[in-house]
Amino acid sequence: MQDFATKEVTTDLLIIGGGMAATGAGVEAAYWAKKNGQKVVLVDKAALDRSGAVAMGLSAINQYVGDNTPIDYLSYVQQDLMGLCRQDLVMDIARHVNGSVHMFEGFGLPIWKDADGQYVHEGRWQLMINGESYKLILAEATKNAIATLDDDGEIVERVFVHELILDKNDKNRVAGAVGFNVREPYEFYVFKAKAVLVAAGGAVHVFRPRSTGEGLGRAWYPPWNSGSSSALMQEAGAEMTSQEVIFIPARYKDGYGPVGAWFLLFKATATTASGVNYMGEGLAEGGELHNWLPYGAVKPIPTCLRNHLMMQRVYMEGDGPILMHTDKAIEKIASEAPDEKAKKRKIKELEAEAWEDFLDMTISQAMLWASKNIYPEKVPSEIIPSEPYFIGSHSGASGAWCSGPEDLQDDTSKAEYFWGYNRMSTVKGLFAAGDGVGDSSHKFSSGSFTEGRIAAKAAIKYCMENADMPEVDQAKIDELKAKTYAPMKLYEDTKDYAVGDLHKGYTYSEEINPNWIDPKMLMFRIQKIMDEYAAGWGSQYTCSATTLNIALDLLKFVREDIDKVAARDIHELMRYWENNHRLLIAEAHVRHKLFREETRWPGYYYRADFKKMDEDNWGKVFANSKYDAETNEWEMIKRPIIRFVKIEKVVGMV
Ligand code: FAD
Ligand code: ADX
Repeated sequence: MQDFATKEVTTDLLIIGGGMAATGAGVEAAYWAKKNGQKVVLVDKAALDRSGAVAMGLSAINQYVGDNTPIDYLSYVQQDLMGLCRQDLVMDIARHVNGSVHMFEGFGLPIWKDADGQYVHEGRWQLMINGESYKLILAEATKNAIATLDDDGEIVERVFVHELILDKNDKNRVAGAVGFNVREPYEFYVFKAKAVLVAAGGAVHVFRPRSTGEGLGRAWYPPWNSGSSSALMQEAGAEMTSQEVIFIPARYKDGYGPVGAWFLLFKATATTASGVNYMGEGLAEGGELHNWLPYGAVKPIPTCLRNHLMMQRVYMEGDGPILMHTDKAIEKIASEAPDEKAKKRKIKELEAEAWEDFLDMTISQAMLWASKNIYPEKVPSEIIPSEPYFIGSHSGASGAWCSGPEDLQDDTSKAEYFWGYNRMSTVKGLFAAGDGVGDSSHKFSSGSFTEGRIAAKAAIKYCMENADMPEVDQAKIDELKAKTYAPMKLYEDTKDYAVGDLHKGYTYSEEINPNWIDPKMLMFRIQKIMDEYAAGWGSQYTCSATTLNIALDLLKFVREDIDKVAARDIHELMRYWENNHRLLIAEAHVRHKLFREETRWPGYYYRADFKKMDEDNWGKVFANSKYDAETNEWEMIKRPIIRFVKIEKVVGMV
């Protein structure tokens, strides 16, 4: 096998990822590093201009607190997650997010304005944008900021980071990370750093997606977010939290177009096939939502419960599909025009906005509409609950257990939630942001960027106060390098026997071979297990201790077989490592689901053996876990939910 050169990069702060949280981290870190003579390196597996969830652009900024208070925002988040959130983390982002949004505008992001020059809101918290170039604009700002550091700033693109390095003398202190270039020159990267900030997004394709076969690869969240944030940190021994809380977005069928603009801006109604307004009925006196108090029967209905109402109608009563009445919504808004001519003009304007919503953010949905001859002003469209995603920045909650800000705590919460540096995990010098941080949902793009800024500022402070460089064990690096390329070596060592000259060998197809497992097959295996035994869409989002234990057993076999995965080239090597990360988050997820013996988020998943919410035993705790990579042992931990901010009233939609 080819010998890959090793490239060493030494820095004070290493930022892993190039998405919303990482660009925020880059901008802020550069500012503080410049003032204090620190070095910053940002490494992204892709190219900063179009990497991460915002690659296609977005049509809204989903977190803008505006004239509301951080407590108002907290009330909304706590309600939406059925009581589960870290108040300190949510408030911390909410108090800074307006500043980030104003920065975006300064960078050149076009935010819609009305005739009076005020931002156009999609809902109370969301602003409409012309966001096709959202990510490019932030990438440019980050590149400019890092460039101010001259030789002390560097952006490394197209390097996949797959493992963190720990200090040789302190196994609870980070010392850097390793990765490999996915473009030529194919080098092995060793990053040595005092602090590492993980912002490598959430996880997609852990569960079998609804888009299979011809549609494989299409998902709502980007398939290239493969669980690295979680796997890197969990493998390094960081305590993780709420790994059971996935997000099931209700999306336009097959194209995965988001629904927010339709529900909030266009005020569309969704009904069952027979025309039942399932959300209205759920909210009404005696409706299903009253079974989920104290969180159920309040507007906005928590995201999981909106799914639950839909699932009940479709799965229990067969009254599907669910239809989003785009046609009626457009007709209703246009009918308010003063005359026929104005109405026609309004319809044209609404049609343009409807298409732009998707062209800005989910182009595949616009293509699907076009290819199926769908005119949204004439016919409704199907919406459907998707496969589960791990995304702590949206309406999920999985991620690392991190220290919060000192100034927002009371005495009780400070003892549990503060250990020196904001957004530092339980591993010294290891920080996180965006999807990487748990229990602080609804940060979305703007809040993730804000959290990146918060974490980076604290990380630079950490670098200055912990000025000695951690020691890296060279023997460990050599071991990691061999492990990195092992799937390519396996292929090289066995391919001749396997395929032989002119396919006269053992099998006709390289994908199917007794000597190895193809990285894609590894992914399919994980997805099948998760879908069938850990509450994917194929099992109607339902699991029990019995099915979860089967999942654990089967995942154990996958781990036993993982050394048999072969990679034919660097691209497949990346696929292997992505799936290696998926496997760890899958296992963490199953263990968390087993641990939490209740159904807290109906519409995300159901525990058939614990059908109800159990406020007494589970309403006041987070489910956390720690993984010991050396012994392959897991520890499950309960941490208290401390509600030091009293919420008088839930502040909801406009
Ligand atoms: P991301 O932005 O996804 O960034 C992850 C980064 O990590 C990427 O740069 C990736 O390349 C990199 N990475 C991954 N693995 C590795 C690795 N192993 N090594 C190195 N780098 C790695 N939010 C809104 O505010 N408004 C909206 O309208 C909105 N709509 C959305 C629509 C869609 C279709 C999607 C997918 C998301 C939407 N969101 C919206 C949510 C928003 O995009 C996310 O909340 C946000 O991007 C999360 O930020 P992040 O930095 O944690 O992850
Ligand atoms: S997006 O991130 O892909 O754009 P989505 O379209 O679901 O997600 O949501 C955008 C915003 O609208 C989020 O803040 C979400 O919580 C909110 N939202 C979506 N649907 C509803 C609804 N029916 N009621 C209240 N809020 C909603």
